[in-house]
Amino acid sequence: MAIVILHASIRDLESVLYLEKVCFEEDAWTILDLTYALSAPNKIRFKALVDENFAGFAAAENHTKECISWITTIAVLPEYRNRGVASALLDACEADLSYPKVRLAVNVHNIAAIRLYRKYGYKEIETWKNYYMNGDNALIMEKQL
Ligand SMILES: CC(C)(COP(=O)(O)OP(=O)(O)OC[C@H]1O[C@@H](n2cnc3c(N)ncnc32)[C@H](O)[C@@H]1OP(=O)(O)O)[C@@H](O)C(=O)NCCC(=O)NCCS
Repeated sequence: MAIVILHASIRDLESVLYLEKVCFEEDAWTILDLTYALSAPNKIRFKALVDENFAGFAAAENHTKECISWITTIAVLPEYRNRGVASALLDACEADLSYPKVRLAVNVHNIAAIRLYRKYGYKEIETWKNYYMNGDNALIMEKQL
């Protein structure tokens, strides 16, 4: 099994739209959100291919006022999970960020993602109440690269 990480672009819109729906349901980014995420300048976006098939996507951005980088999304299609795809996407994002302070938001109930981020050295710093559509809270995690 070969995992290849490549820069993503607007040409990946259809694949990423499908991935978002499968992974995030009511919290999925809309086609407008994704068009922006895949085409705006100064954004970091990577796709993962497994044996040449689209398997996952991650995006990040640098907030210049606060000097903090944010991982804004990371998702892997169910059939490609538990093979290191998210880890490879996270490695690629972290290597491209401008600031050593990195943050992300994760649903407090998302055990798989929280374990992934803890493994990478992210620590919980605060909770944002009612962040998700169903009222779930978000855990804000931070890492110093
Ligand atoms: C979370 C997610 C991105 C992980 O993707 P993945 O490619 O399966 O992750 P990896 O194979 O790189 O796993 C790396 C680590 O993550 C953790 N992890 C991944 N899946 C896990 C699971 N089902 N249960 C517990 N821990 C898990 C483990 O610590 C794992 O390391 P290990 O294999 O040494 O135990 C994937 O489950 C997903 O896309 N979920 C839906 C979207 C989502 O929730 N994204 C995060 C939004 S904040």
